[in-house]
Amino acid sequence: MTAVDGSVVQLRAGGTSIIALVDAGRLPRIVHWGADLGELDDAALAAIVLSALPAIGDSAVSYPQPVPVLPQLAEGWLGRPGLSGSSDGTRWAPKFGAATTSVDTRDGGQVLRSDAVDAEYGLSLSIEIEVLASGLARQRATLVNERGESYRVDGLELAFPVPVTATEVLDFTGRWSLEKVPQRRPFHIGAWLRESRGGKPGLEHTMLLAAGEAGFGFQSGAVWAVHLGWSGNQVLAAERMPSGVQHLSAGEIILPGEVTLAAGERYTSPWLYGSWGNGLDELAGRFHETIRAWPQHPSRPRPIILNTWEAVYFNHDLDTLSALAEKGAALGVERFVVDDGWFLGRRSDRTSLGDWTVDPAVWPTGLEPLARRVRELGMEFGLWFEPEMINLDSELARTHPEWIFDAGHGAGIPSRYQHVLDLGHEGAYEHVRDGMFALVSALDIAYIKWDHNRYLLDAGHSPSGRPGARVQTLQAYRLMAELKEAFPGLEIESCASGGGRIDLGVLAHTDRVWPSDCNDPHERLEIQRWTGLMVPPEYQGTHIGAAESHTTHRIHPLDYRAEKALWGHLGVELNLLEEDEATLATVGSWIAFHREHRGLLHSGRVVHADLPNAATRLQGVVARDGAEALYAFSVTERPANWPPGRVTLPGLDAERSYRVNPVFPGTPLPEGAVVPPWLLSGVTLPGCVLGTVGIEAPSLDPDTSVLFHVTAVDA
Ligand code: DGJ
Repeated sequence: MTAVDGSVVQLRAGGTSIIALVDAGRLPRIVHWGADLGELDDAALAAIVLSALPAIGDSAVSYPQPVPVLPQLAEGWLGRPGLSGSSDGTRWAPKFGAATTSVDTRDGGQVLRSDAVDAEYGLSLSIEIEVLASGLARQRATLVNERGESYRVDGLELAFPVPVTATEVLDFTGRWSLEKVPQRRPFHIGAWLRESRGGKPGLEHTMLLAAGEAGFGFQSGAVWAVHLGWSGNQVLAAERMPSGVQHLSAGEIILPGEVTLAAGERYTSPWLYGSWGNGLDELAGRFHETIRAWPQHPSRPRPIILNTWEAVYFNHDLDTLSALAEKGAALGVERFVVDDGWFLGRRSDRTSLGDWTVDPAVWPTGLEPLARRVRELGMEFGLWFEPEMINLDSELARTHPEWIFDAGHGAGIPSRYQHVLDLGHEGAYEHVRDGMFALVSALDIAYIKWDHNRYLLDAGHSPSGRPGARVQTLQAYRLMAELKEAFPGLEIESCASGGGRIDLGVLAHTDRVWPSDCNDPHERLEIQRWTGLMVPPEYQGTHIGAAESHTTHRIHPLDYRAEKALWGHLGVELNLLEEDEATLATVGSWIAFHREHRGLLHSGRVVHADLPNAATRLQGVVARDGAEALYAFSVTERPANWPPGRVTLPGLDAERSYRVNPVFPGTPLPEGAVVPPWLLSGVTLPGCVLGTVGIEAPSLDPDTSVLFHVTAVDA
């Protein structure tokens, strides 16, 4: 960190530099965010700032560039405002000044703090800009109303600038069972917005909003991306002004009156994260490293899961689920999770959400005998909940209809026959919390699958009808935190009809996400690699599903289903009771292979090759010390150009020599495979050859793959 006359600050950590201008009492203005530039001396820092100042032509709005991380209309900014709010129509055009700046080190990174005031408006603002040890950057702001009259905050959006060389925007969309579909577009003048207005990020949520050099890929092309660590309503924007200023920004979408500050009250924005890299793998690596450095990052091996959902759906009974648990344990499963269908009257998805007691009609002796059996078999016991939801056909809705969100037009339209329980009512919160606490305690539950299947639409808090979406998100966090505090070691999975709630806000309270309800490996390959831009493999639930996918009805060989599930936190979602012995043995082999390699899979660097053949994929995980790696070469379509040619194995140490062996944890070779000569014996090559020239790939049928196990031979 360096300060020049108190006017320029350089933050450095993890291969990232941020250089910010903090002169004239103004808010911080980032003039560089990206590659580490080394420790710059005072003269160089001053020169960087000088050389970053633009020419201002006639008739241009002479906005004093560079632009602060909280852009302000009062300073001439004509784009999205950093702070929107007012006191009944006054104090609406803030202008913060008299900023004082300090810089500190924190956990191996560096943080700049800027404290500014708008004396005329009686508002104060603190901004933190931090570069974490991983090189991931983040910022947040705290606004305080220093005056007697209340101040209504309508939005607070912070921005990271990106250079004009970033000409392409990448973001993601999706829907149920098809999350994280990428879309690319030129970075045009204007604002490209991705909004979540359903009280959670949602299935179509972009998760990351990225901008990079034309054609950036996984291995090359500078690229920057932002993410908001918040599980509620939000907006992410890629905004380019005619002046050439362009930035990536985000903030909460705050509904009317959700944040109204009385005298002395404060609002703190969620963290806005920013990552960059030469290629997406480096960008993703900064997120992974950050998450892996969290104190709550799971340190023990991720237990292999058997989930009952696609195995039996609502058809629960003790004998069937005990038999399923026995089959799973015999194959090496370590955690048995009872999904939806266990609570009062829940025979379908039409009833009972909110009634969190075990259904005596289906479980006459309760869930204890099953939980006990699961533990006898050496497994942990997990249970599904959907704590924020309610069915109109439930005891809870009949007793407390006022706990259902209502903005003035009743309960609103159902989705999956359900409505949202307003946890802003302390009684509703306690009802759910007490029900969950009782079960977690009685059944010694090790794992909760926490679902969320309806968007919050007109989510009004009764009786006023005022918006309750923001409080709902905070109450969900609170409930997760209370559970974790009361039951140390309890793990929680964030599921929202699949990948509808994946963000660093909820991840701070959970241990796993469910990227999609689609277990079809053809789709999972894409969903997982894009979700993996932020979420490390050990947090991504990846399950071996049925031969015929329940969501796409494609049929896939077991090896392909298992290989695509290998790369995350492995689970099985098959009805093992209906599978033949050969299938069970193969599932067992894949489980054993995962157990053998999960140390590598859950700690190594995730890599992808940029292959010219769009019908092929090469993914891998490389050990941090570069001594070992696993890769999968997959074919997704039948392309015109064939055979596929050579594929590179990225991430290896160029100076070392490696043995590459094909490995077949299931059946020996995919049916129909035509293999190049090296594949019959394995091959030894320098890392630089594997990383730049590559090795000939096998010709495979669509939706088949081959694994390569790579070990350094010079150690
Ligand atoms: C939606 C989830 O995404 C599924 O995995 C399953 O838990 C069902 N809900 C249960 O209703």
